[in-house]
Order: sequence, then C-alpha cells, then structure tokens
Amino acid sequence: MSKNEIMFKIITLGDSGVGKTSIIRRYANNIFDESILSTVGVGFAFKEVELKNKKKVKLKLIDTAGQEKFKSLAKSYFKNVDGVLFVYSFEIPQSFENLKEWIKLFNTSHNGKTGVPMILVGNKSDLEEEEEVQKNDKLVNDFLEEFKDFKFYRTSAKENILINDLFQELAEEIYSKEKEGGKKGHNVVKLKNFDEKKNHCGC
Ligand code: GTP
Ligand code: MG
Repeated sequence: MSKNEIMFKIITLGDSGVGKTSIIRRYANNIFDESILSTVGVGFAFKEVELKNKKKVKLKLIDTAGQEKFKSLAKSYFKNVDGVLFVYSFEIPQSFENLKEWIKLFNTSHNGKTGVPMILVGNKSDLEEEEEVQKNDKLVNDFLEEFKDFKFYRTSAKENILINDLFQELAEEIYSKEKEGGKKGHNVVKLKNFDEKKNHCGC
C-alpha cells in the first residue's frame, strides 16, 4: 500500500445469520451463496471505493462472527474502527431487538473515539412480507429517534439491493467526518496515511 493511500476500517456487527458475511461478499466480490457457513472467528475483505470528490479510499471490511462464543474476539477488533454497520434481518425479528446489546458492546468497548459513523442495516429485504413493512418502518423510526446519528438502509445481499450505496454512503460519511475533525481539531482521528508496516498489524 502506498504512503498516501487512505484506508478506512469498517466493522459489521449483529446476530448470527443476519447476513453480515453475505453483505461483505456481495460488495467485495459480487457473489452470494445460500449455503454459506457461519463465520468462525473473524474474516476480512478489502475494496477500493471512489468518493464523490474522486479520491480513492481503501476499505478494510472486518466481518465479525455473531455467535455468542465469538463476542470477546469481535471486541478485540473494535479499536480504531472508522465506521460500523449494525445488521439485523427481517427474517429474524429477535435480531432487531438484540441490536441494542451490540451497540452497547461497541460503545463500551471501543477506544473512545467519538462520532464514529454508524448505519442500521435491515437485511434480507427480499424476504420482508408486504404486510410487515409498515410495522418494520415504525420500529426503525423509533430506533432512529433514540439513536439520532444513525442512518438506515434496507438491503438484500441476495438480490444486491442497496449494497453498494450502503458502503458508498458510509465511506463518504467517514471521509467528511474525519476531514471535519482534522480541520476543527475535534476528537476524531485525522485521515490516516498508512505505510506497509503500520498497515501490517491488521487491526
Ligand atoms: P454469522 O457469520 O454466523 O455471524 O452470520 P452472518 O451474519 O454472517 O450471516 P450469513 O452471511 O452467513 O448469512 C446467513 C444466511 O442468510 C445464509 O444462508 C445466507 O445465504 C442468507 N442470506 C444472507 N443475506 C441474505 C439476503 O439478503 N436475502 C436472503 N434471502 N438470504 C440471505
Ligand atoms: Mg458471517
């Protein structure tokens, strides 16, 4: 990686089976697999994205495992994360309820950097029942009332709905927040110029 390259670290969090790996694989490799295995430990993917201002940014996508037994491992990747996708599935109502726990875990375990952009992702929109949409929207609205800084995306990794837009938006938001932080000296990390050695640590 060259000296002037910018890299943002994005982590996915949420219950097992909601589609975190599928979202990342759709975005990074444009593939979808019905019989994908549950993540063991943690996975990584990389993808370059071009921002509106034509700057190129490398995204490091950290794919955590949703199973309870991997929670403490997931926590060890929270450090210096630049953006978070909190994922639930329309197929698993409990996964929405459980998001507050994931948010609490992130907020109490990351390294105190403020203003980390976060997106609420309702995945498997292809399985969302027509008659459930209104109820689901109400739940999301209530959630956004409480977590005002969140954006919301309704995605389908299977049908490739809004997957690119989701990452593009997050990358743009991270970029503008970090630029702002750099300018105003807020408690937001400045744009990072990575070199091979620094980047090598992986997290
Ligand atoms: P863990 O690794 O256990 O934390 O789960 P995960 O959140 O990574 O879920 P994963 O991507 O493994 O997906 C779980 C199941 O849901 C798989 O069978 C996927 O094929 C399926 N799936 C993922 N996204 C979608 C989607 O958008 N629509 C549909 N219909 N199925 C999906
Ligand atoms: Mg997974």
